Amino acid sequence: MNSGEMLKDKWTKVIAVTGGAGFIGSNLLLHLVPKYPDYLFVNIDCLTYAANLSSLTGIEGAPNYRFKRLSIGDYLDLERCFEEFPFDVVLHLAAESHVDRSIYGPSDFVETNINGTFNLLELARHRHETGRGIRFIHVSTDEVYGSLGDDGSFFSESSPYRPSSPYSATKAGSDHLVHSYIKTYGLDAIITHSCNNFGPRQFPEKLIPLVINNILNRREIPVYGNGQNIRSWLYVFDHCRALDMVLHNGQKGATYLIGGGNDIRNLDLIQRLCRMVDEKLGISGSERLITFIEDRLGHDYRYALDSSRIRSELGWKPAYEFDQALEFTIQWYLEHQDWLNSCISGEYMKYYDVNYKRKLAES
Ligand code: NAD
Ligand code: TYD
Repeated sequence: MNSGEMLKDKWTKVIAVTGGAGFIGSNLLLHLVPKYPDYLFVNIDCLTYAANLSSLTGIEGAPNYRFKRLSIGDYLDLERCFEEFPFDVVLHLAAESHVDRSIYGPSDFVETNINGTFNLLELARHRHETGRGIRFIHVSTDEVYGSLGDDGSFFSESSPYRPSSPYSATKAGSDHLVHSYIKTYGLDAIITHSCNNFGPRQFPEKLIPLVINNILNRREIPVYGNGQNIRSWLYVFDHCRALDMVLHNGQKGATYLIGGGNDIRNLDLIQRLCRMVDEKLGISGSERLITFIEDRLGHDYRYALDSSRIRSELGWKPAYEFDQALEFTIQWYLEHQDWLNSCISGEYMKYYDVNYKRKLAES
C-alpha cells in the first residue's frame, strides 16, 4: 500500500482547503475540523500578508489537520501535494481578495486568482480522468456580476457577468475556467457566490474590522464618496455552514448564491458600528472620526443576492441576526486586540499610507 492509499484507508474523506489561513478559510477550518474527525483537512496556503496562522490555534494540533505552505501559483509544488494526499474534495478559497489592492497592483490577482485556480483545476481534472472522484468547490463572489442600481433588483444564478474591478474580473475569469471544466471535462465542480462577509479574523483592510480598528486607535474612519453605496452582509459562520452543506449535498455543476439579506448603506453601517463600539467601551463621539474621502475608482454602487436556490435545495438559511452578529464581531475584536495588532505591522501601514494618505489629506 502506498502512502496515498494508506491515507484513503484511514480517512473517510481527504479535503484540501486552499487559503485556510485567511479570513473565511480559517473560520471554515475551525468549523469543519472538530465537526468531522473522520475527515483529513489539508490547509494549502502560502501565507500572504492577509494570512494569520494564529487564527488557527484552536485546531493546529488536531490529528485530522495538516498545513502545507505553498502557492497555488506554483504548479510543481501543488502537484507534489496532490501526489502526497489523495484529495476527494478541494474547497478553493485562496485568492487575492481586496478590491483596493487590486486597483493599485492587479498583477498578483491575475497570478493567484486566475493562474492559481487553473493549476488546481488541472490537477483536479487529472484525478477525475483517472477515475478517482474529486469534488471542486470554487468560492467566488457576488462582485463578478457587477453593480446594481436603485431598482430593487437582485443578482441570481443566471445574471450576466459584468465585473468592475481587477479583483472581480480575475474572480470572474476563474469562474469561467471552472464552468469550462464542468462542461468540457465533466468535472464535479460547484461555484458559490457570497456577498460581503464579516466576523472574527478578518484582515482590517476590509470595511468592518477597519472601522473597529480605527475607533480603537482614534484614527479617522475613511468613507469613500458619499457613503451611500449599498453592500449586503453575511456573517462568516453562516457562510461556513453554507459551504458545509454545499460540500455534502450540493448538486454537481450547480451555482449557489449565498446572501445574508442584510443590505445597508456604508454610512449607515459605519454609524451603527460607531454607536455599538462606543457603547461597549463606555465612550462617546466615535462618529466624529468619520471622514469622507475621494471615491474608490470604479466603485460598485450596490450588490444584492437572491439566495432562494440554496435555501430551497439545501435548506440553508442564516442562523444569526445582523445586529447580534455585529455585536459578536465587535466583542471578538475587542477581546483579540493582540490579533489585530499583529496585522497592523509595517506592511499594513505601508498599504494604508498608499491607499489613504493623499485622500485623507485632501478631505
Ligand atoms: P483573505 O484575503 O482573508 O484570505 C486569502 C487567503 O489566501 C490568505 O490566507 C492568503 O495567504 C491565501 N493566498 C493568497 N494567495 C495565495 C496563493 N497564491 N497560494 C496559496 N494561498 C494564497 O480572503 P477571504 O476574505 O478569506 O476570502 C476567501 C475567498 O472567498 C476568496 O476566494 C474570496 O474571493 C471569496 N469571497 C470573499 C468574500 C469576503 O467578503 N471576504 C466574499 C465573497 C467571496
Ligand atoms: P470592502 O470591505 O473593501 O469590500 P468590497 O469592496 O469587496 O465590497 O468595502 C465595503 C464597502 O465599504 C465598499 O463600498 C467600499 C467601502 N469602504 C469605505 O468607504 N472605506 C474604506 O476604507 C473601505 C475599506 C471600504
